[in-house]
Amino acid sequence: MIENKVAYITGGTKGVGYGIAKILLENGVSVAFSGRKKGDVEKVVTELKQYSQNVLGIVSDVKNLENESETVKNIIEKFGRLDFVIANAGLGIFKPVDQLSADEWNEMIETNLTGVFYTLKASVEELKKTEGYYITISSLAGANFFENGTGYNASKFGVVGFTQAAMIDLRKYNIKSTVIMPGSVATNFNGNIPSEKDAWKIQPEDMGNLVLDVLKMNPRVLPSKIEFRATKPNS
Ligand SMILES: NC(=O)c1ccc[n+]([C@@H]2O[C@H](COP(=O)([O-])OP(=O)(O)OC[C@H]3O[C@@H](n4cnc5c(N)ncnc54)[C@H](OP(=O)(O)O)[C@@H]3O)[C@@H](O)[C@H]2O)c1
Repeated sequence: MIENKVAYITGGTKGVGYGIAKILLENGVSVAFSGRKKGDVEKVVTELKQYSQNVLGIVSDVKNLENESETVKNIIEKFGRLDFVIANAGLGIFKPVDQLSADEWNEMIETNLTGVFYTLKASVEELKKTEGYYITISSLAGANFFENGTGYNASKFGVVGFTQAAMIDLRKYNIKSTVIMPGSVATNFNGNIPSEKDAWKIQPEDMGNLVLDVLKMNPRVLPSKIEFRATKPNS
């Protein structure tokens, strides 16, 4: 039963996080989501209220542990509990390794990898109380390396290893953990503007439905690592 449970999704202002927020709200879950800019967060709260009133938008940068701890406090104040944490926020900068700057490397690693740890660090005591669920969004780039992908590949391979090791630590507390590794999703990632050309891709709602299915699984089973791809890639 997932009705009346509470989810926190990092990076819910657009793309994958937005799609997950929409589907969870439609299915009776209260949703808190984050983004870095107040104006964007407020706009998305208004949009998401068409699906359910039980939505909370919070300005938080996953690179900042204090932000994440404050966010979890706000969620508990508003909803009283936290059941599902979806560490989704991420970005990609794609350049040959000799042209990738230290700042670009740090931005990816701190957001995509350290951020995933900070979000768990801030929420794990609440997840213990609810015997909740921790889901991370890695990528097929967390298993397959490619040209211009050094920083992104490193961060996403890292998320796969991190989540699987965390899964072993956390299941002692009846907390489940899953790493989802999507292929191409029709989002704003890497400057993309979603349009009809993206019809072949995974859609943000597909990500939401996958998360919903995972959360609804019988407590005795745990899909710890999921590769999720478009049926017919258009490449
Ligand atoms: N799109 C794909 O093809 C694809 C494939 C595999 C995996 N993924 C992964 O899916 C996740 C979501 O990406 P997306 O495709 O939905 O991209 P997107 O459309 O660009 O959305 C990224 C989201 O992350 C948030 N975000 C970025 N940095 C943040 C930070 N430091 N703190 C808090 N929020 C932050 C953004 O919010 P603000 O800009 O409002 O702060 C936005 O809501 C990423 O981890 C990405 O690596 C994407």
